[in-house]
Amino acid sequence: MYVSMKEMLLHAHRNHYAVMAINCVNMEQTKAIIQAAAEEHSPVIINISPRQMKAHGHGDIMAPMIRNMAQKVPVPVAFNLDHGASYEDIAMAINYGFSSVMIDSSSFAFEENVRRTQLIASLAHGMGLSCEAELGHVGQAAQADNDKADLYTNVEQAREFVDRTGCDCLAVAIGTAHGSYPEGFVPKLDFERLKELKARLDMPLVLHGGSGAGEENIKKVVAYGINKINVCTDLMKHATKATAKALEENPEIDYMDLCIEAQNAMKDYIKAYMRIIGSSGRYLFDKDHGPELD
Ligand code: 13P
Repeated sequence: MYVSMKEMLLHAHRNHYAVMAINCVNMEQTKAIIQAAAEEHSPVIINISPRQMKAHGHGDIMAPMIRNMAQKVPVPVAFNLDHGASYEDIAMAINYGFSSVMIDSSSFAFEENVRRTQLIASLAHGMGLSCEAELGHVGQAAQADNDKADLYTNVEQAREFVDRTGCDCLAVAIGTAHGSYPEGFVPKLDFERLKELKARLDMPLVLHGGSGAGEENIKKVVAYGINKINVCTDLMKHATKATAKALEENPEIDYMDLCIEAQNAMKDYIKAYMRIIGSSGRYLFDKDHGPELD
């Protein structure tokens, strides 16, 4: 099923689990993600950023491929523009057939973030897409942004932001950052803030910078109300390692077999992650009765 994130994340919110949102730039990754979801009976979100589209998987190629593969499986699959920054990014994603968009205006001042998000949320909703927004700012691990509490999401502002913009889910800053942390470092997350945000907003919340956060933290953020976890760096690293291992074991390996090795390694990684965040087994199908949602 090819769906927007709206109903999928509301289901996760009501049933207290999280959905993986995985950055994806080619066919092997798409297959790994959709096969993992189908085998785990789990919903999944495929993410791609404007930068990744420019450098790797262009949206007009990725969108029909993902929609095509998603329509062949019974579990819900959403395709989301990750960190859309400009009106042009969003319009292009809608035009290509994405099912969801994120407008990231989190580097702007509050009022400007509200203005931009309002505009994109109404456009997305009018076109049948869901809209993710960000308040507070999830920065870069390389700049130690995870430790900068002034970037964290303010609870009262978040309530006002959601009321005024109508976004479907909100990315919150609670101590993660994008990319790789220093070796052995595990970020300290602000669980109290997350708890307050969930109580005050009562809606699907998103964690960016899922890589390197540590399994204990990940389980805890799900327990406290995160419903979408973005993972890019860790999965890419995992694919690189699997590729290097296969090459080391057999330097003459056929290129197509090498791609399959990477694909299978990614699939296994995703399946294990889905079990940790509780999305596995959420969509069980009975051939006579169709999808069972709970
Ligand atoms: P990581 O690369 O840290 O997993 O972050 C991914 C992300 O948040 C994409 O929006």
